[in-house]
Amino acid sequence: MRGLMSTDGYLTFALGKGRLAKKTLELFETLGITCEEMKDKDSRKLIFVNEDLKLRFFLAKGPDVPTYVEYGAADIGVAGKDTIMEENRRVYEVLDFGFGKCRMCVCGPAHAKELLKHHERIRVASKYPNIAKDYFYNQKHQTVDIIKLNGSVELGPLVGLSDVIVDIVETGSTLHENGLAVLEEICPLSARMIVNQVSMQMEKERITGLITNLKEALQKQS
Ligand code: PRP
Repeated sequence: MRGLMSTDGYLTFALGKGRLAKKTLELFETLGITCEEMKDKDSRKLIFVNEDLKLRFFLAKGPDVPTYVEYGAADIGVAGKDTIMEENRRVYEVLDFGFGKCRMCVCGPAHAKELLKHHERIRVASKYPNIAKDYFYNQKHQTVDIIKLNGSVELGPLVGLSDVIVDIVETGSTLHENGLAVLEEICPLSARMIVNQVSMQMEKERITGLITNLKEALQKQS
């Protein structure tokens, strides 16, 4: 089995669909890396090629990006730190883009703070069961029951499924509008660039050159 990996002279990028991909492509454009094909909103095409620069881009579901990169189906990926932590794939994390900033937090109704303080065996709902498990078991040494959900996690404490949630907080408005609060902060998050470990060796110059150019572009923006 051989992926799209750099063996054919192309560098392949897997981008997490949505806002992250849009921001990433905007940044790439400032470096003269464009992909006109990708801007056609009506297109159902999945893979886009820039023949001049020998670059290939595809859009994937966020949590699948580290998978494509680990297996070498993409040389480079852009994904949120949340996804990278949750998936825990063997990839190199090489750059913090600084956008898509938010925080991974334990949230719930204010009274659940006591349950956390006394290390009670509570129920934790999350889209991120691995992050939740690592935080409670390895960092806090608290035994909890983790319940995997796929979205609208804030419902957990509202309907009595769980005591607290582990989720992303950006503006805090979802929590606020539902009478919930941040109880503990786990870590800050943002968009990161990840690289396949073999590609990093085989295409070292091209990839480190790109990282240097991206860092310069990011510095200019800030
Ligand atoms: C995310 C996250 C929170 C919300 C946080 O959900 O899971 O629910 O955004 O943003 P805020 O602090 O600015 O309100 P998303 O919109 O991705 O949908 P989901 O709940 O279906 O995962």
